[in-house]
Amino acid sequence: MASQIEVCLTPDLLPHFDLKDKIVVVIDILRATSCITTALASGVKSIIPVREVEECKALQQKGYLAAAERGGKKVEGFDLDNSPFSYQNPDLKGKTIAMTTSNGTLAIDLSKNVAKEVLIGSFLNQRTLCNYLQKKEDKILLFCAGWKGKENMEDTFFAGALIDDLSNMNVELENDGAFIAKAVYHVGRNQYKKFLRKSSHYQRLIGFGLEKDIDFCFTANQYDVLPYLKGNEIVL
Ligand code: MLT
Repeated sequence: MASQIEVCLTPDLLPHFDLKDKIVVVIDILRATSCITTALASGVKSIIPVREVEECKALQQKGYLAAAERGGKKVEGFDLDNSPFSYQNPDLKGKTIAMTTSNGTLAIDLSKNVAKEVLIGSFLNQRTLCNYLQKKEDKILLFCAGWKGKENMEDTFFAGALIDDLSNMNVELENDGAFIAKAVYHVGRNQYKKFLRKSSHYQRLIGFGLEKDIDFCFTANQYDVLPYLKGNEIVL
């Protein structure tokens, strides 16, 4: 069963954590980990997460489909944006997609080659993720992608939801970030979609007319999949 849980609220705080021998769950509810979960659940073969737009462009030039988002918008010249609905396209089945996003792929890259396991967490695969974590005895770091180095509500809230899901196990919360995430979850859990509307990225995406994306990303247990990083690719 799960043992000890830490929460890193933003990538800027990661230097304060030791990822060695830990299971890292990368959380970017709006929308990177929601997109990755949707893509793999919809038949995409794998996602190659890269930190920089230039890396993604190089993979596109090698023949990969490529998705790039910055500031919530698709980067000009790429094949896919960062809406989960774009990854439900049956034409993508069996494909490998290179992906770079503002925060989520950075968090994945920072965890690569350091953590024991790197898992992809979202509301969309919450139950599957939780069931997996409950069976593990390793220490867990819930890694919130945040927004450009700052914390955000939706990732912190989801980390708290996972802590709540695991509370029937004798997990120990190992840092203040974990207690903060748990407290945020307990404040907003009964009307969490309404609660999360206060978040900055929710407001930003609403401004882009993307309420459908948000509502989908906030919907729990749509897919029974657990994407994880295998080498440089995210697979099932
Ligand atoms: C992120 O990396 O924070 C997200 O991909 C941003 C977005 O999709 O709007």
